[in-house]
Amino acid sequence: MRISVIGTGYLGAVHAAGMAELGFEVVGIDVDAAKVTALADGRAPFYEPELEPLLRKHVGSRLTFTTDLAAAAGSSVHFLCIGTPQRSDGPGADLTYLDAAVGSLLPHLRPGTLVVGKSTVPVGTAARIADLVEATGAELAWNPEFLREGYAVEDTLRPDRLVFGVRGGGAEVILRQVYADAIAADTPVVVTDLPTSELVKTSANAFLATKISFINAIAEICEVTGADVTTLADAIGHDARIGRKFLGAGLGFGGGCLPKDVRAFQARATELGVGDSLKFLAEVDAVNLRRRERVLALAAEALDGDVAGRRIGVLGVSFKPHSDDVRDSPALDVSRRLVELGAEVRVYDPVATESARRVAPHLEYADTLGEAVHEAEVVLHLTEWPEFRAADPAALGTQVARRQVIDGRNCLDRERWRAAGWSYVGLGVA
Ligand code: UGA
Repeated sequence: MRISVIGTGYLGAVHAAGMAELGFEVVGIDVDAAKVTALADGRAPFYEPELEPLLRKHVGSRLTFTTDLAAAAGSSVHFLCIGTPQRSDGPGADLTYLDAAVGSLLPHLRPGTLVVGKSTVPVGTAARIADLVEATGAELAWNPEFLREGYAVEDTLRPDRLVFGVRGGGAEVILRQVYADAIAADTPVVVTDLPTSELVKTSANAFLATKISFINAIAEICEVTGADVTTLADAIGHDARIGRKFLGAGLGFGGGCLPKDVRAFQARATELGVGDSLKFLAEVDAVNLRRRERVLALAAEALDGDVAGRRIGVLGVSFKPHSDDVRDSPALDVSRRLVELGAEVRVYDPVATESARRVAPHLEYADTLGEAVHEAEVVLHLTEWPEFRAADPAALGTQVARRQVIDGRNCLDRERWRAAGWSYVGLGVA
């Protein structure tokens, strides 16, 4: 079976490599020539552990990359892995890239072939695209993707569930062939209609965002009562119905998915006349953004009320560890805001410096952790890279001007930092 993967961003590049690993002949297609050149050379255009070895293994044999959409013509399955970012003029999803890709693909479709949407889309999009695809004699299925950045290869090869949105026809049979290995390994398969499959994805991300904002709202209560949100999360997390995962209080969620999906979901509900149903997501977004204000306020507090002209060391700039993605990164946002307030900020991240520099060239970037904290009057821990947890607070203490740390991720060993003479402040922790 020959497979084309249209769009080789995060999702598509990993999906293409994953499909090649499963034994298929795969062509990855993208309009971005630089991305295609890197991938065709066996290089990942972004940091994702495990992706490059897979690319190197299969590029040159069954995995190719091109900018020419006509290369899709010989495939029997076409995956749509196009980004659906937030619109620049509102909260809804920008579908222009997806629509353009579908428009360009249509002339290359043959009867009997299958188009499989993986992009996260507002409910109703799949049905609209299905009508266009079916007019060519091909079929459309929706197969949302749940991969996490940093674990993308593992999640692609060993997903925790497969969701097939279909209109009947032969789509399910073909999808079961594509995912035969995962299905043989007992991965649950949910076969449903198109709108349910679209909503599964947006609901999953909305739920995860709600869980994080729930614990961050509780952190706000802990802050005024002296309670400890980490102990509280451990305690409620023991209830299997609640679970401890995604109850990490701190600077909140960012990235290319959760923030824009929460907003697009509300926007779509409003369009459908049921805006009230998802009104709470506005609060989820608001709680999340308020955590950034809280870190700014704590930084000012640590510096006698004003950050202007003061040296601040920032640890982490990616939206989460094991990723160089800075899209909607809380750490990058806080760093920028501090600079706007006149602070002298020096940022260090183990892998995201280059991607941060592209969008925020005015920030000062350090090459090492030590350089970032050198003579800092306060250190902000904003992305929970293992390197920061492993750092020796006693040694770092000799480099700073004042031993003050604000732990925006509540995961440094506070006893150890305090024992080394630091004043330690977290978000909602005692
Ligand atoms: C998210 C979903 O987890 C994936 O299932 C989904 O496929 C993906 O979006 C997508 O739609 O493509 P990802 O954006 O890689 O994946 O990131 P997450 O691991 O979900 O983390 C999101 C944000 O939440 C990060 O900023 C992280 O620091 C934050 N977070 C996570 C917390 O603040 N607290 C937690 O307890 C967990």
